[in-house]
Amino acid sequence: MSSSLAALNDWVADVARLTQPESIHWCDGSDEEYQALVRRMLDNGDLIELNQETHPGCYLHRSDPGDVARVEHLTFVCTPERDDAGPNNHWMAPADAHAKMDELFEGCMRGRTMYVIPYCMGPIDSPISRCGVEISDSPYVAANMRIMTRMGKPAQARIEREGRFVKGLHSVGELDPKRRFIMHFPEELTIKSFGSGYGGNALLGKKCHALRIASHQARSEGWLAEHMLIVGIENPAGETHYVAAAFPSACGKTNLAMLIPPEGYRRDGWKVWTVGDDISWMTPGEDGRLWAINPEAGYFGVAPGTSESTNPNALKMLNRDAIFTNVGVTADNQPWWEGLPGQPAKDWQGRDYDPANGPAAHPNSRFTVSAKQCPSYSDKAEAAQGVPISAIVFGGRRASLVPLVSEARDWTHGVLMGAAMGSETTAAATGAVGVLRRDSMAMKPFCGYNFADYFSHWLDFDRPGAKLPRIYKVNWFRKGDDGKFLWPGFGDNLRVLEWMLKRVTGQVDARETPVGNLPRAEDLNTADLEIDPAALDALLSVDEAGWRSELSSIGEYLEDFGPRMPGKLREEQRRIADALKA
Ligand code: GDP
Ligand code: PGA
Ligand code: MN
Ligand code: MN
Repeated sequence: MSSSLAALNDWVADVARLTQPESIHWCDGSDEEYQALVRRMLDNGDLIELNQETHPGCYLHRSDPGDVARVEHLTFVCTPERDDAGPNNHWMAPADAHAKMDELFEGCMRGRTMYVIPYCMGPIDSPISRCGVEISDSPYVAANMRIMTRMGKPAQARIEREGRFVKGLHSVGELDPKRRFIMHFPEELTIKSFGSGYGGNALLGKKCHALRIASHQARSEGWLAEHMLIVGIENPAGETHYVAAAFPSACGKTNLAMLIPPEGYRRDGWKVWTVGDDISWMTPGEDGRLWAINPEAGYFGVAPGTSESTNPNALKMLNRDAIFTNVGVTADNQPWWEGLPGQPAKDWQGRDYDPANGPAAHPNSRFTVSAKQCPSYSDKAEAAQGVPISAIVFGGRRASLVPLVSEARDWTHGVLMGAAMGSETTAAATGAVGVLRRDSMAMKPFCGYNFADYFSHWLDFDRPGAKLPRIYKVNWFRKGDDGKFLWPGFGDNLRVLEWMLKRVTGQVDARETPVGNLPRAEDLNTADLEIDPAALDALLSVDEAGWRSELSSIGEYLEDFGPRMPGKLREEQRRIADALKA
């Protein structure tokens, strides 16, 4: 009996009866506990010590090679009615899903320790925050949850006060992909995940709770749980505007959240503040604006590509107290991935590095680190009420067609921009990489209910008294005929954010086109920017023939959702298609 809340004790006892662990450990979130978890994993081989002189407190975890990414085909939303999960989710009837999972969990923790992990998503004193308890037989999960969430005693105290929490049950099982399922029961505030140790499948506070379960709750309670970074942009006058941006996994959220301004901007006094890099919970405030918190307390970031030239802030926070998963190592045992200087000695599977085996670091290798270690961590990141959002940005990987930036005419157009988002798939999920698919609001893998209802929910925020953010669409990933990116990206993305904020504050006009408002060439600051004028021209132009076929493809996508699709979005799609024909 380790809680004053009977519902929690009863559930823990039920799970222990089913899974038969050797012992039960209630996590308190202390430093001593974290150190003990690390020692245990060093002993059993779950963790490998990295060079403690260059990287104190840093460790490497090597996953089973068949368990290195999210598994969308094995992820289910189990609502009583199939239609409520929507064509965007895999669905199973709740009773069938429980039966299937309970069979897998039966006796699965024999000989293992069962960790009871109370956590809070969001600042511990924020009314917007929500709590959960994850039960897992993985010390790697317990240690990562300590970094990624507010985990331990204060969270448990809040749960005991509120009497309500999301129940997440997880076991690594045998890591057999044939016995792997990630099941969500939104009506029961319950998650059951079996057979994977990978972050997105196993750290249940993150994608499972803070996106799939939370989006479902947010719909009935009038808020939004989104796959968005939150970043503060401080101009030379000292004013800070907050921007929330949704990009699919491995499409630039962590980088944008930690952006370092180009040199000229730094000289002028521009600063960038990181609030969150993956998830945003947004609630309308009494002032009509949307206020956002980052429910997480750490970053689970993509390692490859992180370098002194792309994301120096991330690099600075990774030289101490971080867990690396599936990166390579150098001869002197420092973590290594593609993009870093120097040479790998071993690859992510621990083999001597041989380019014939592919990259040294797995393309979806990750770091886990406390948000507080980020040099640009915002002093508003712990604010109970969150930060007010001035602009919402949608973006994806589109090698062609989609301009560098465009602005929605109004909220409805912006919702269509988000709904119509297309992006090339990445290594963050198993399956083919580089395949173009629709990924509405970057939530395709994460929306816990029918996308058509989700779009209606978004449209509902446009009501009297609302002071909604402007909506933008960006594309950092346009390629030229030579296959190279046209836009330098990274720090230079601030140039695009500056234009957006100039629009928000009414300082510049824009060029109106059927697909949205684009910058006039003279309004995008290109001082000291190395870019071919022809490339800039391509980035800021609208290929009308290409857009005509894009609009018809968007129309077909909306039709796939049938009568639940809000008429307003279909009308907006038709309006744009007609304008392109005229
Ligand atoms: P997240 O998973 O959405 O947080 O994406 P990350 O910020 O971790 O970036 C994923 C990959 O995209 C990394 O390899 C980055 O180096 C790369 N990336 C991020 N931003 C840009 C950009 O502006 N331009 C280009 N070309 N690549 C980028
Ligand atoms: P990402 O987060 O969006 O930073 O890649 C993990 C994921 O979405 O799987
Ligand atoms: Mn993500
Ligand atoms: Mn990220």
